[in-house]
Amino acid sequence: MYSAVITGGAQGIGKAICEKLMGEGVFVFILDIDKEAIRDFEQEAVNTKLFNAILCDVSDSNMLYRTLESIKKQKPYLKYLINNVAISDFVPLKDLELEEWNHILAVNLTSYLLTVKYFQDDLKQARGSVVNICSTRAFMSEPHTEAYSASKGGVFALTHSLAMSMQPHVRVNSISPGWIDVSAWQKKSHRKTPVWAEKHHMQHPAGRIGKPEDVAELCWFLLSDKSAFITGQNYNVDGGITSKMIYEEE
Ligand SMILES: NC(=O)c1ccc[n+]([C@@H]2O[C@H](COP(=O)([O-])OP(=O)(O)OC[C@H]3O[C@@H](n4cnc5c(N)ncnc54)[C@H](O)[C@@H]3O)[C@@H](O)[C@H]2O)c1
Repeated sequence: MYSAVITGGAQGIGKAICEKLMGEGVFVFILDIDKEAIRDFEQEAVNTKLFNAILCDVSDSNMLYRTLESIKKQKPYLKYLINNVAISDFVPLKDLELEEWNHILAVNLTSYLLTVKYFQDDLKQARGSVVNICSTRAFMSEPHTEAYSASKGGVFALTHSLAMSMQPHVRVNSISPGWIDVSAWQKKSHRKTPVWAEKHHMQHPAGRIGKPEDVAELCWFLLSDKSAFITGQNYNVDGGITSKMIYEEE
């Protein structure tokens, strides 16, 4: 049985990726900082024998290495790695402290490097595949998103760089989600079922807001051997919104 490691997998898009992988018979090691989310994941999982959810703050490199070491001791046949974790805190430029900038980069970008660096030999041996979750905010912005956008720009570049360093045995790709409604995929106390207006859906050329499953399906394709000739690439999963030209004439 193949194994996967995923960061930030207890909720949101990461949780949908876990469910997809477990549905494909993959054993998933989940690293997440949220105890409550892990508990809910454990209680609700259908495939209870196909995952191990571990409490870990990926911004703490010592804790991250200890956790990866503990996973390695379980001798998984590690073939897949999904760097999914991210935080976003939109702060006006004048209020953005260096400490916060460094923390966002540690979670959203540095952890992506450290996991691949740690597992590079295992992934090469297994002829594995890595998917990094990026964002369309790597390519376009709203005000006050400097740290998050920069971290995602870093993930975009890190992906093609890793693809070159890990060739020819390991493929590395990224997915850039657009607007994905994760509210139904949160821990129970934060779960919601918002009703979005038609105008919210229809601003997307695909006619709707995205779902975590939209990302999970592509993620599995990029991990699996079906995408054997694809590496170093980024794919937007955004309902077409980044291809839309916006002119306000009246
Ligand atoms: N939802 C969207 O619309 C959207 C859009 C573009 C990109 N993305 C990207 O998709 C990925 C998942 O986003 P999401 O919306 O599902 O987020 P989410 O907040 O629902 O889930 C993120 C998970 O990461 C965990 N986490 C946060 N900090 C951590 C840390 N220091 N250590 C370990 N775990 C930590 C959280 O507990 C949570 O379970 C992220 O990389 C995000 O940037 C999401």
